[in-house]
Amino acid sequence: MSQIFFDESQLSLDDFATLCAQSTDKKDWPLASDVALNVLIYQRRDLLTAASSQPQALLSELHRALSAGPGVLVIKGMYPDKQIIDRNSALFEQILSAEAASNSGADHFAAAGNNGRIWNALQKVAVRDADAFIDYYANPLLALICEAWLGPGYQITAQVNQVRPGGKAQQPHRDYHLGFQQNEVVKRFPLPLQILSQYLTLQGAIAHSDMPIESGPTQLLPWSHQYQAGYLAWRDPQFIDYFRQHAIQLPLEKGDGLFFNPALFHAAGNNLTHDHIRTANLLQVSSSFGKAMEKVNYITVLKQIYPALRLRTLPEAELNAVIAAAGEGYSFPTNLDTDPPSSGLAPMTQQQLLRLALTEKWQPEAFNAALDEHQLKRQA
Ligand SMILES: [Fe+2]
Repeated sequence: MSQIFFDESQLSLDDFATLCAQSTDKKDWPLASDVALNVLIYQRRDLLTAASSQPQALLSELHRALSAGPGVLVIKGMYPDKQIIDRNSALFEQILSAEAASNSGADHFAAAGNNGRIWNALQKVAVRDADAFIDYYANPLLALICEAWLGPGYQITAQVNQVRPGGKAQQPHRDYHLGFQQNEVVKRFPLPLQILSQYLTLQGAIAHSDMPIESGPTQLLPWSHQYQAGYLAWRDPQFIDYFRQHAIQLPLEKGDGLFFNPALFHAAGNNLTHDHIRTANLLQVSSSFGKAMEKVNYITVLKQIYPALRLRTLPEAELNAVIAAAGEGYSFPTNLDTDPPSSGLAPMTQQQLLRLALTEKWQPEAFNAALDEHQLKRQA
């Protein structure tokens, strides 16, 4: 891809297929114990030994695995003490039933029915059981893989996903950041930023149940993260077809960890069993780099300028530029329980709210109230 800005007509299934045809050679990965269907397999004990004897070589290998390598790895036995997993799973069940009773906690990213989702499981577990939280997040391998991909200062979030018998497969997709945006938005990001975005997030899943193939463990397409234009490609029927023909699935055991580059094409699988509930704690870990140097109180700015702005008649380009400076233009981070996406996958931003108010000619009092409500529902 030679162009910085491009559209769907410039996608190449051939280029994608060439990248995905690479194979993972065990001899390139000295600390891995195995390669299964092109996925690197690491053993907990080997990683802990290497962490004390050759930490830089270990961190380098794990990072390379997720970038220059197949883009996906499994840590077998990441949680050797199953009681830690089970104690957290019991809390997940409490949270799921409490939220089902209060009708919150819907999964906006999957069809209703055979799916359970807990947003912000990290905070909800901490509130319910401090020791369960401590035991779970005291895992040195978790810190190791996060630091290998993101360096220090990372931020962990957790979203539990439960797929019950009969639960349907997802469409293949890429993950946060750009995986949560429509093509029209993706296209406005220069290609180097699209590529960079994969280095700002680590995607992980801790198996809270055994995951035999028939229960639908995540379908993965190793090496697919290397297709640079891929954020525009995953909704394309040709690419979906290719995924269906070439994606692989690995069975996991309770306590295993799966980690992948967020640009890897993947999709939750069909749960074909009659009685096996598949539960994963999805960890999404963010780089410290997605943050500005200064904290700006945009509520103050917006409330101050709105009465004046609504009286001005600016050319569209000027209006767009001032809106871009005056408020938050990104949907995240937010509280997905109380601030679900209204359409698409991303909730409304302050800038979109401002634009709506100007278009509909709201009075300042109405805009201020809407702004306060918007702010409130985005808090955790
Ligand atoms: Fe995903």
